[in-house]
Amino acid sequence: MTADLSSLANRLVKGRELSIEEYAFFIENRTPELAQELAWQAVEVRQGIYGKDVYVRGLIEISNICKNDCLYCGIRASNKNCQRYRLTPEEIRECAAEGYRLGFRTFVLQGGEDAYYTDALLCALIRELKEKYPDCAITLSLGERSYESYKALKEAGADRYLLRHETADKAHYESLHPVEMSFENRMECLKSLRELGYQVGCGFMVGSPGQTARTLAKDLKFIEEFKPDMCGIGPFVPHADTVFAKEPAGTVELTCFLLSIIRLLHPPVLLPATTALGTIHPEGREMGILSGANVVMPNLSPVSVRKKYALYDNKICTGEESAQCKDCLSARMRSIGYEIVTDRGDVKKDGRHGRV
Ligand code: 5AD
Ligand code: FES
Repeated sequence: MTADLSSLANRLVKGRELSIEEYAFFIENRTPELAQELAWQAVEVRQGIYGKDVYVRGLIEISNICKNDCLYCGIRASNKNCQRYRLTPEEIRECAAEGYRLGFRTFVLQGGEDAYYTDALLCALIRELKEKYPDCAITLSLGERSYESYKALKEAGADRYLLRHETADKAHYESLHPVEMSFENRMECLKSLRELGYQVGCGFMVGSPGQTARTLAKDLKFIEEFKPDMCGIGPFVPHADTVFAKEPAGTVELTCFLLSIIRLLHPPVLLPATTALGTIHPEGREMGILSGANVVMPNLSPVSVRKKYALYDNKICTGEESAQCKDCLSARMRSIGYEIVTDRGDVKKDGRHGRV
């Protein structure tokens, strides 16, 4: 490793911040040795906060109906080949009941921006779930909504909200989204969620079209400053019915490198080894954990809809029952010396508003 890289690595580990130029230099000049060194450091830091525990989130994909038309996404509004579905509150309750039985203590309700899910419907559902499972956390991942909506959902009992920022570079954001969507509104939503008291998750795809070392460096700077409670990063995987059908997928190597950096610059962050990572490599999720991730998200959706929630091609876990999916991940985690725990898995807050 060059002296430059070593000294940057040291500053990252000790100071938890670098300049945008330094992050970009780091990304452009990374070597397998540097990646290994950062992964070891990231695992040590994670171990100090979370031990060998891996948190699980039961992912319920409630709807693939979406008003947005993000250029990279398989469920974009203009994809006529997508068979649309939405789950009723009753179906969602059934998924949660099965999840609770299996030991999940966080439910993630994720879906497209589907107007069927009004505040009234969601608030009633959240209240019911919180009443029935008071020891569980509810995470929402339902895209951009109004401040008033986020507020009502929080008051109904939602604990966390995932809204990937997608990219911290405005021009890059605009190249991935139609004109109706704005970078400013995305960032505004994240701020509102934080202000309302949610545990907030941001994130981005690795290897999205047009991404450069510099746009990634800005993502890292954003994470360093925003200090999200959660951060979802996974490789971009092309979907045949999108504008980016012919683009290459992101790599496991770069995703894992970035997972390590994110753990080091914000130690308490809840960092999933995503399904997309498992999709591009058979051991992708294990590699993610060994790079500093500490969360996995097995699928709790009804098997009948899983194939339809196709943000990208060849997604894994679409044929499995929920129990199989959970057992599979438990075995995978055990094989690398980690243990899935039955726990809400809240962020260990110590470092949230300052440097740890
Ligand atoms: N490949 C990987 N991730 C994708 N997402 C959407 N489309 C793709 C794709 N083709 C991610 C986006 C979104 C999250 C729900 O899924 O980052 O925020
Ligand atoms: Fe879903 Fe392996 S994690 S089948």
